[in-house]
Amino acid sequence: MNKPIVGILTWREGKRFAEPAYFKRLLRAGHKLGMTVFLFSPADVNTRKRQVRGYTASQTGWMSSLYPWPDVVIDRYRYTPTQAFKDYVAFRKKGVFLYANNRLANKWKVHQVLWKDERMRRWLPETNEYSRTGLQAMLARHPLLYVKPSNGTGGRGILRLERGKNGYRLLGRDKERAKVESRPQNTDLLCKKVDRWVNKGMFVIQQGLRLELIDARSNDMRLLIQKDGNGEWSITGYGMRLGGKNSATANLHGGGKAVAVEPFLERHFGTDKAQAILAECRQLARQTAETIEAHFGRMIELGLDIGIDVHGKVWLIEVNPKPGREIFKELGKIAQYQQAIEKPLQYASYLANEKKRQRAEA
Ligand SMILES: Nc1ncnc2c1ncn2[C@@H]1O[C@H](COP(=O)(O)OP(=O)(O)O)[C@@H](O)[C@H]1O
Ligand SMILES: [Mg+2]
Repeated sequence: MNKPIVGILTWREGKRFAEPAYFKRLLRAGHKLGMTVFLFSPADVNTRKRQVRGYTASQTGWMSSLYPWPDVVIDRYRYTPTQAFKDYVAFRKKGVFLYANNRLANKWKVHQVLWKDERMRRWLPETNEYSRTGLQAMLARHPLLYVKPSNGTGGRGILRLERGKNGYRLLGRDKERAKVESRPQNTDLLCKKVDRWVNKGMFVIQQGLRLELIDARSNDMRLLIQKDGNGEWSITGYGMRLGGKNSATANLHGGGKAVAVEPFLERHFGTDKAQAILAECRQLARQTAETIEAHFGRMIELGLDIGIDVHGKVWLIEVNPKPGREIFKELGKIAQYQQAIEKPLQYASYLANEKKRQRAEA
């Protein structure tokens, strides 16, 4: 099998990169697999000469050199509210490379796509686009709600609204992920507060799930499903994330703590039910990958945020097209961590060879 040239599209400013620790591991893994792998940004591409200025890591720091046109590009450019991101989107739309993964839309659009597929519906919490009247309608139906920015990540900008005996409890995370808390006395005050929070931005309102399997904390599961060297989807692993006390979110960057899934679920549900829940999570993951690809085109990996509520019901909270894999490191699952890094490269290799074969046959 030929060893391909793989470019990783990401944010760069000078020699500062978006995810330096992950990229160093990724580059090392590529080297180990005998592949040529480099990082680059849109500004590094010379379409006319079919050359790319690529970056790799050495003992002494980052270095750059000119590379031939990559066989495959893995898009790892993550959302930031900047001009650089807008430039990336424009560049991405030109489609000058063979990309291993397509872009995903915002939370609202993704929800609509998944909802259209009847096989997905049983796992989807009720979700609507935010509006003041929509909020009131959903408040009447659910004692617990989440209001989330459609383009948010990492638990930023999220509000959790809970109806209590004396008014409401509002718990959330602002744009810097700092905790916020308040207790509006009535629906009117609550709606005013939420409206101000949303501030005309794009938000979704979602039915709140009771995920407090221990200590009144928000817990959820992160599952990583990836394409492998045969072009097939396979589940690399999963971990539970335990949110902090009084935290609306369980994201690791927001103070969530990683724990192993099996013992956690077995303690709450017993062995049989825990196994059944896990089997359902796997089925959910495979179906989600299939449904997402059918609409958005080829993907390379998906990180799913899965809610397991106090009754053992499984819910899909969010689909992340450019997920982290730190949960495996935090769990001490080093083999899974390594796999999580290598699999996308193996898939890129598979894809490059497939395309070469197809071209040769044509
Ligand atoms: N509907 C919900 N019910 C209960 N918890 C939720 C809900 N939506 C989000 N959360 C909690 O907030 C976290 C962040 O929400 P998520 O939709 O994944 O947004 P982000 O893109 O910021 O990660 C989730 O991992 C989960 O812990
Ligand atoms: Mg999430």
